[in-house]
Amino acid sequence: MNVLNSTSPLLQNRNITPKTSCLTQWKHLVKPCFILIAILVFSAPVAYSLSELIMIARHKSPTVSNLIKIVILSSKKSRTMIKTKSSTATKYVGLPPLLDAPNSNEALSPPAALCGKRIVGYFAEFENSGLTRKQLQMLTHIIYLFAIPRNGVITIVDDRSLRKFEEMKSNAREASSTLKIMISIGGHYNSRSFSGLVFNETSRTVFVNSIVSFVEKYDIDGIEMFWMWPRYRDKNNYLMFIQELRYAFTELQNKLNRKEDFVISLVASSNLNLLFNLVEFLNSVDFFGIYLFNSYSYQVGPDSPLYGGGSRNVDEIMKYYICKTGQPSKFNIIISFHATYWEGTDLPLRDDSDNIWKVNESGRLAVALRWRELPHHKWNLENIKFHNLTKTSYIWIPGPPTRFLTLEDEQSLREKNRYVADHNIGGITMWTIDQDDDDHTLLKVVSSAELCTGEEKNTIKYNCH
Ligand SMILES: *[C@@H]1O[C@H](CO)[C@@H](O)[C@H](O)[C@H]1NC(C)=O
Ligand SMILES: *[C@@H]1O[C@H](CO)[C@@H](O)[C@H](O)[C@H]1NC(C)=O
Ligand SMILES: *[C@@H]1O[C@H](CO)[C@@H](O)[C@H](O)[C@H]1NC(C)=O
Repeated sequence: MNVLNSTSPLLQNRNITPKTSCLTQWKHLVKPCFILIAILVFSAPVAYSLSELIMIARHKSPTVSNLIKIVILSSKKSRTMIKTKSSTATKYVGLPPLLDAPNSNEALSPPAALCGKRIVGYFAEFENSGLTRKQLQMLTHIIYLFAIPRNGVITIVDDRSLRKFEEMKSNAREASSTLKIMISIGGHYNSRSFSGLVFNETSRTVFVNSIVSFVEKYDIDGIEMFWMWPRYRDKNNYLMFIQELRYAFTELQNKLNRKEDFVISLVASSNLNLLFNLVEFLNSVDFFGIYLFNSYSYQVGPDSPLYGGGSRNVDEIMKYYICKTGQPSKFNIIISFHATYWEGTDLPLRDDSDNIWKVNESGRLAVALRWRELPHHKWNLENIKFHNLTKTSYIWIPGPPTRFLTLEDEQSLREKNRYVADHNIGGITMWTIDQDDDDHTLLKVVSSAELCTGEEKNTIKYNCH
């Protein structure tokens, strides 16, 4: 709703859904759909969790009919989850205590941690998996998605999510003494009220106090602001808010006699003109996560290409941010653990061409699938091909109907690891670790990144002129 009628196509989100075929099963779904629409309209909290579950609805024009399609897809999804008894998609009933045995050698952590770089995992209320000690020890930071502002006070939407968050916290504390635990505030669909919350001193004080109380109450290490699309008129207010939050965190730190600073991170989009006074922000912020996925439903092509395709590849975007600030150590790239596919398109990737996106005027919905779900949906991982120019992985099925699926796999992730190391970037964030398979195949690759190359913290590895 709010996001759907925004002005930038980058606001559009991607839907995580099991199948396209539910689109054709209209009749069975008319009733649940109607109910869900009613829920979306009348009940903000439910709408919040639904929309975050959907994540990123990719569609060309933000019309109501698109919204309906997305709602159907997600209703089908939740029902599937409840019905399925398989270990990968069981209904969430509370995180179990950590089952794997404690390690005798204390403080296992990713190699990147040795030089202060970051391996960050998102853990989401809308996913359905537990956590293992091994997973937690492969991270430097874990960020729970989401808390949302309600009447200026940040809240976790419901009891179930709050329980999941608290269990994540206690599991994380048990697994590692160095792992930073954070909460993300906002999200794709929940950022609308931020503008008002940072608008004047009074509202900012309420908002800052609520964040500080939350952090103190739940004894966590910091927060992330997931406000991806602040408007031009918000820029000074947002900055003042962050500065006031930093000040309040310092006071809390003194009050608690805490050694380490509280962490503040911000998410920024790959749309380059939306964050204005970046350098001033960086004085109060520990790091920025740059959200890099391709968000254009009607542009069929690779997700997060390192190179190629003009100015929207990872290399160009990171170069922009790092040249503008001179502080590579303060950036993380955000990568996705879900694949995206389109049906009935041409193959967008040709080895000899820089033209890596195909515009499809028919505006067909892209469909997103968790990495862990791919085999259940008959995607054979042995068919994954690698595209050398963009350094991305994909599956192409000549059909009919033709299908193009873009994804991160071990090979493309290794390329991203190398890119981050070579460009002295501060770290990698994964959206989300619970979309990985039970062997943590993708997390293992990211976590093993050798990011400590001996460079000074802020040596710039781009030619900025
Ligand atoms: C501050 O902003 C809030 C809403 O953002 C508004 O309700 C309130 O009247 C404003 N206060 C002042 C003093 O402008
Ligand atoms: C868009 O997709 C349709 C099939 O859905 C296909 O017939 C058409 O050629 C595609 N258009 C472009 C420009 O690729
Ligand atoms: C892949 O791309 C690199 C440049 O990024 C080039 O040096 C190499 O020859 C290419 N390999 C193939 C097999 O095309």
